[in-house]
Amino acid sequence: MAESSADTATAGLLLAIESSCDETAAAVVDCNLNVLSNVVASQAQLHERFGGVVPEIASRAHLRAVLPVIDEALAKADCRPADLTAIAVVTQPGLVGSLLVGLTAAKTLAAVLKIPLIAVNHIEAHLYACRMAAGFDVFPAVGLVVSGGHSNLYHCKAAIDFELIGSTIDDAAGEAFDKVAQMLGLGYPGGPAIDVVAREGNAKAFKFPRTFLREERLDFSFSGLKTAVLYEVNGIPGSHSAPPPKLTEQRIADVAASFQQAVVDVLVAKCRQAARQYGLKRLLVGGGVAANSQLRQGLDELQREEAIDVIVAPMEYCTDNAAMAAIAWELYGESRFAALDVDVTPGLVRRGRR
Ligand code: KG4
Ligand code: ZN
Repeated sequence: MAESSADTATAGLLLAIESSCDETAAAVVDCNLNVLSNVVASQAQLHERFGGVVPEIASRAHLRAVLPVIDEALAKADCRPADLTAIAVVTQPGLVGSLLVGLTAAKTLAAVLKIPLIAVNHIEAHLYACRMAAGFDVFPAVGLVVSGGHSNLYHCKAAIDFELIGSTIDDAAGEAFDKVAQMLGLGYPGGPAIDVVAREGNAKAFKFPRTFLREERLDFSFSGLKTAVLYEVNGIPGSHSAPPPKLTEQRIADVAASFQQAVVDVLVAKCRQAARQYGLKRLLVGGGVAANSQLRQGLDELQREEAIDVIVAPMEYCTDNAAMAAIAWELYGESRFAALDVDVTPGLVRRGRR
C-alpha cells in the first residue's frame, strides 16, 4: 500500500472513518490510493478483563476518541477539512452503538463541508486492503475475510461486486482464537497471543477436529474445535476418566499450536476448494486473523501448490483500520453516495452487488 506521494496535492482526498467494533480509526487516502495518514485508537485494554468486546463500553470509548482521531488523521496528512473531496464511513456490519458514532461524525462533516458521504461495508473493505497493497486491479478473485466477527468466502467479481459463497455456521475464526486464548489464560485479544505461544509448541500434539474439511461446501464451523480444546484443557464434564494434566507452559504451547494448525488447515483447504470450484487464479485474504503467521505460511504453500496468486493484506491493514475504507473511491467513481439519513446495518447483509 503506497504511503503518500508527491502528486497528492492535486489528487482528490478522502477522509475515511471506521468505528464498527473496538477500534476508532480515521485515515486520509487520495484517489490514487496513497494512504496519507492512518490513525487507529484501540480499545483492547478496556475490554481485556471481560475477555471480549463489551458493546456499551465500546460506544462510549468511540465517543471520546472519534474527534481526536479524525483531527490527528487530518493533521498527519497535512490536510484541512476544506481540502476533502468526500467522507467515507463504515456503516455495516458491526456493533450498532459503535457504528452510529462514526456515522454521526461522518454525516456531520459531509453536511458542513457539503461533500459526498459514502457508506462502506467493513468486510468488503478488509478485502480491499489487498487491492490497495497490490497496486493493480486484482479482480476477479476468491476473497477470504477472517476476523473476530466473520469467516467469509467471497467470489469477488469486481471491486464492488462481491458474492458471499461461504461463511461460518457458528463461531468466527478470530472468535475461536479469542475463546481458546481465554481457556489457556493468554488474555485478550487472543489471536496474537496464540500466534506467539504456538511457536514453542508441537502442532501435532493433539488431534483436534477439522470440520467440513473434506466436504464440498465452502462453509466453516469452529465451535466443535473450540469445545474439543475446552475438554482437552478442563476435562470432559461428568467423565470418570482421570482429570487432564496441569497446564504447564509446554502444554499450553502444544494446545495453542495444535488448535492453530486445525484452524489454518481448514481455512487453507476452503480457499483451495473455492479457487478450484470457481476457476479463479487469485486469492485475497484480509481481516485480523490474516495476521496469523501460521496462516500466512499455509497460504504461501497454497500459492505454490495451486499456482495461484495469493495476496494477503499487509500486517498493519489486517486488523481494523480506516485506510481500507478507501474502497469508497470505487463507489465514488459510480456516484454511489449515501443520503444524509442513511442508517447503520449492524448485521451482515448477504448479497452480491449493492
Ligand atoms: O478484523 P479485526 O481487527 O476485527 C474484526 O473485524 O473483528 O479482527 C480481530 C480478530 C480478533 O479475534 C483477534 O484475536 C484476531 O483478529 N487476530 C489474530 C491475530 N491478530 C489478530 N488471530 C490470529 N493470529 C493473529 N496474529
Ligand atoms: Zn474487521
